[in-house]
Amino acid sequence: MSYPREYESSLQRRDAFWLQQAKKLHWFKEPQQAVSLKPNGCADWFADGELNVSFMALDYHVDNGRGDQLALIYDSPVSGAKASYTFRELRDQVALFAGLLKKQHVKKGDRVVIYMPMIPQAAIAMLACARLGAVHSVVFGGFAPHELAVRIDDATPKVIVTASCGIEVNRVIPYKPMVDKAIEEANHKPAQVIVWQRPECQAELLPERDIDWQQGLQGVSPAECTVVAATDPLYVLYTSGTTGKPKGVVRDTGGYAVALHYSMNLVYGLKPGQVMFTASDVGWVVGHSYIVYGPLLAGVTTVLYEGKPVRTPDAGAFWRVCAEYGVNVLFSAPTAFRAVKKEDPEGLLFAGYDLSKLQRIYMAGERLDPATYEWTTAITGKPVYDHWWQTESGWPICANPVGAAEHPIKPGSATLPLPGYDVQILDYKGQPVGPNEQGAVAIKLPLPPGCLTTIWNNEERFVSGYLSEFEGYYSTGDGGYKDDDGYVFIMGRTDDVINVAGHRLSTGEMEEILAQDNAVAECAVIGVHDELKGQVPVGLVITKDGVQVSAEELTARLVQLVRDEIGAVACLKRILVVPRLPKTRSGKILRRVLRQLADGEPVQVPSTIDDPSCIDELREQLAG
Ligand code: COA
Ligand code: AMP
Repeated sequence: MSYPREYESSLQRRDAFWLQQAKKLHWFKEPQQAVSLKPNGCADWFADGELNVSFMALDYHVDNGRGDQLALIYDSPVSGAKASYTFRELRDQVALFAGLLKKQHVKKGDRVVIYMPMIPQAAIAMLACARLGAVHSVVFGGFAPHELAVRIDDATPKVIVTASCGIEVNRVIPYKPMVDKAIEEANHKPAQVIVWQRPECQAELLPERDIDWQQGLQGVSPAECTVVAATDPLYVLYTSGTTGKPKGVVRDTGGYAVALHYSMNLVYGLKPGQVMFTASDVGWVVGHSYIVYGPLLAGVTTVLYEGKPVRTPDAGAFWRVCAEYGVNVLFSAPTAFRAVKKEDPEGLLFAGYDLSKLQRIYMAGERLDPATYEWTTAITGKPVYDHWWQTESGWPICANPVGAAEHPIKPGSATLPLPGYDVQILDYKGQPVGPNEQGAVAIKLPLPPGCLTTIWNNEERFVSGYLSEFEGYYSTGDGGYKDDDGYVFIMGRTDDVINVAGHRLSTGEMEEILAQDNAVAECAVIGVHDELKGQVPVGLVITKDGVQVSAEELTARLVQLVRDEIGAVACLKRILVVPRLPKTRSGKILRRVLRQLADGEPVQVPSTIDDPSCIDELREQLAG
């Protein structure tokens, strides 16, 4: 089928199209119906189907001749460790750990929070939860105890799974004290904490509550797969919204499995037996979908890498991993390639490896800027693809459908909407605009399989946050346009979400934290352009009258506050003490004006501004 026909078919003959994709997986009860529309315009997918994703991703392959193929390769330059697991070995480890969870009375529907570094046990814990039908919620290891506490209170887990430490460049970060602190802060108290002890750091265990993973496995029987409905939740993954409270994106089981499996060939052109290296973290959606579930569902070997693109030990790290394991597809964020480019602009390190097996390079997490695209293409000689997606979508919304028909690459564009996604560019009234006109990027309901079904414990926030802005559409929160050929260009967020080194963060949340300081009367946090990280936050604060504090002291205090509350990943390093902030007459801070001033763009001052004279003084301060 030609690509335009495949795309049309996914929208016009939705049921038949997706049932055909579903048939490619092993269900315990094959679904007879793909779409069940709900009153809110969204769909339940494969509602009468029954399955277990862990079975599909592991047992199925063991039973069908892939038992001895590598499922997961672990490579950790920060610890010096390397390991690999065949599908059989991974299945057995997962079944055993599921047995340990079961012994702690974890059952279908219970939540398990996973706070882990990039070690195989993180993937094992996720797949073990899936085996039992328990709902995992992975929290990125770079988040501080407070962020973990907020998620514990929202997800109310029975068990937390963690490791004794994470390892950053030249730095061991003990995790267990952070877990203890988070539990202390949270209102909800999990019954058990299971700890994987790493040689770099031994965690102290509380006798009543904590279990040593390795010791706990002794005498445990492997657990069988629990049958779940396609519509049962597989996981909750928290992502930043516009306020301090993160949103728990709920992923179903059946729709997600079908969408990921479909995408593995359509988007990445991968076939069973090939190797995918997604350099991200299991704490992000990219890690859920393309380090753990997607490759394994498709019988593809996945590389789990605990290191950075640079400094572990050098800017050739990605190329070394690709050469060593015969990687066919490499996927990371543009920021990672910018870091490589900065340290090895001529690509000398690339030239030292045999990368004949590497077929394609993918980037997402932020827009692939044309300069990084050109550099990566020139240095590697490989096709480089941008593709656009979100935690909410779970798999790409726009990409180059290389598995069906490769389309010419246009730098700056994520290429075309994928099957199931009716992407429209809307004006502020919700009317579609013409080609090359910018607007809000929205997706006509229903969303395809794989996308979020609701916000955990908060259907109202799901509706108000995504479905209310434009009737009949899901609002992506991104702005952009389509060109004459229907190529989609995503130009950035239209809300208070920023992307720092591929990490999604909320400026609203940072403002809430800065406002806790006694010296701060008012504040605004904006994302400004950064050569390496894409964006970094900058805080502008007005101090309270009569407060005696130097700008240096206040900066140090506020920077530390954000590190303590959110984590180092927030990268808030610059604070400006300002006399005034630009506001509308109704008192709303004009953040867009601040962003434009900081980025040196032409400033569009709205007619509703209260006092235009503050613009020039701020321009000077922000440029400084
Ligand atoms: N646990 C604890 N701390 C962590 C952490 C983790 N898992 N991940 C990051 N941090 C810390 C870092 O140590 C650093 O701390 P510091 O300020 O004390 O030095 C801080 O958070 C910022 O980290 P990061 O944003 O990673 O900056 P960096 O300078 O160490 O590295 C890049 C820059 C571009 C190399 C790196 O951000 C990168 O590889 N990005 C790709 C991101 C990605 O894969 N995103 C997922 C979407 S695909
Ligand atoms: P996250 O939920 O962390 O994956 O972040 C999703 C957001 O990252 C999107 O809403 C976009 O703003 C941005 N994003 C991700 N991929 C791309 C891309 N390829 N092009 C432009 N923006 C992107």
